[in-house]
Amino acid sequence: MPDTTITRITGRRVWDSRGWPTVEAEIELACGAHGRAIAPAGASRGAREAVDLRDADGTGVKDAVANVNGPIATALAGMDASQQADIDRALIALDGTPNKARLGANATVAVSLATLHAAADAQGLPLFRYLAQGKPVRLPLPEIQIFGGGAHAGRRIDIQDLMVMALAAKSFDEALEMTARVYHAAGELMRDAGKLRGVADEGGWWPEFGSNEEAIETLVRAIARAGFVPGDEVAISLDIAASEFGSGGHYRLGLEGRSLDSDGMCEMLLGWLHRYPIVSVEDPLAEDDRAGMMRFTAAAGQRVQIIGDDYLTTSAERVQAAIADHACNAVLLKPNQCGTVTETRAALDLAKAAGWGCIVSARSGETEDLSIVHLATGWDAGQLKVGSFARSERMAKWNEALRIEEMLGIDARFAGRAALPLTKLWLC
Ligand code: PGA
Ligand code: ZN
Repeated sequence: MPDTTITRITGRRVWDSRGWPTVEAEIELACGAHGRAIAPAGASRGAREAVDLRDADGTGVKDAVANVNGPIATALAGMDASQQADIDRALIALDGTPNKARLGANATVAVSLATLHAAADAQGLPLFRYLAQGKPVRLPLPEIQIFGGGAHAGRRIDIQDLMVMALAAKSFDEALEMTARVYHAAGELMRDAGKLRGVADEGGWWPEFGSNEEAIETLVRAIARAGFVPGDEVAISLDIAASEFGSGGHYRLGLEGRSLDSDGMCEMLLGWLHRYPIVSVEDPLAEDDRAGMMRFTAAAGQRVQIIGDDYLTTSAERVQAAIADHACNAVLLKPNQCGTVTETRAALDLAKAAGWGCIVSARSGETEDLSIVHLATGWDAGQLKVGSFARSERMAKWNEALRIEEMLGIDARFAGRAALPLTKLWLC
């Protein structure tokens, strides 16, 4: 057995896809194994996320890096990297706050993930295999952004992500090939309309539209132009990210210059579900609108996936409450929203046991870090959200999943549309 005692922990400042500083952690073990991970950063953050620790200037990570090199390195030195739960418990105890406010979730998540990588390296296994522990895994169904919006596109439109899911794909490779066709067809439509203005933060086309609904209509046209049957072969997934423009039961659609109450929002969204081939909706109502989430899920939860992102912030406790409330039927899992691998896994386990959809997700501020692809596959989460089909902090992740699919060879299974909750209902 390799000696997986932690011998060295290093934190350093590196830079993310938006040019902001972020935290990288590197871990060395007595056996010579090694792990490295970088914290991502969100732009449309949930109010109850763990703290992304920034220096007094609002952007720097010197304090967070110092926490890795100082108290965290001291506390974890000599611990066993193969005992992830112990490592994460030690991080939580050292932090001592309910939301990682002292150490910073950007510090803890980098260390927690780097430890996981080191432990896998000690076994000589790719991370997804280490996580799977011999159990069968599936390549996740990707949801891929075609148009960016909301906080990722200067609030040009209110909807944050207009994405597609290649439901007819038989493999991850085919899902990417189908999505590439839709992505480029969408670019051609924008070009033909004289509206091609480059891309938003996650690589989706810049949303030069007159209304939110025009964006959805254009996406339907792009799917058809790419040669697919909208809804059947390639379907739409929306991240409304409603907390960005709504609170206290009041929603302000900036693009259309109108305000809606919670019922009005529900009605508008239900109308979209009626008119367009949408199979998944994330954060349809704001994070403080529990009644709205419950009402929307009661109305649409038998037909579409309803994901809590800002609403659940990768918290097992909030997933549990939402299961009891019937406030959604799927969870977005972003390790830096809670700050450790073990807490992310706890949220996944609860959601899975409830038959919910599980989507491992990147942030809008990303790097070359590939951890989430391995988490999604090794944990058999079923779905993966990484952003669009451009820019290498995104493509590096899609490409890693292709490598994993190839590595699995004839054992490769693709989650496909079965990863969506309620698939059984659709089939009857
Ligand atoms: P982020 O948003 O900017 O907070 O990463 C991504 C999302 O809402 O899914
Ligand atoms: Zn979201």
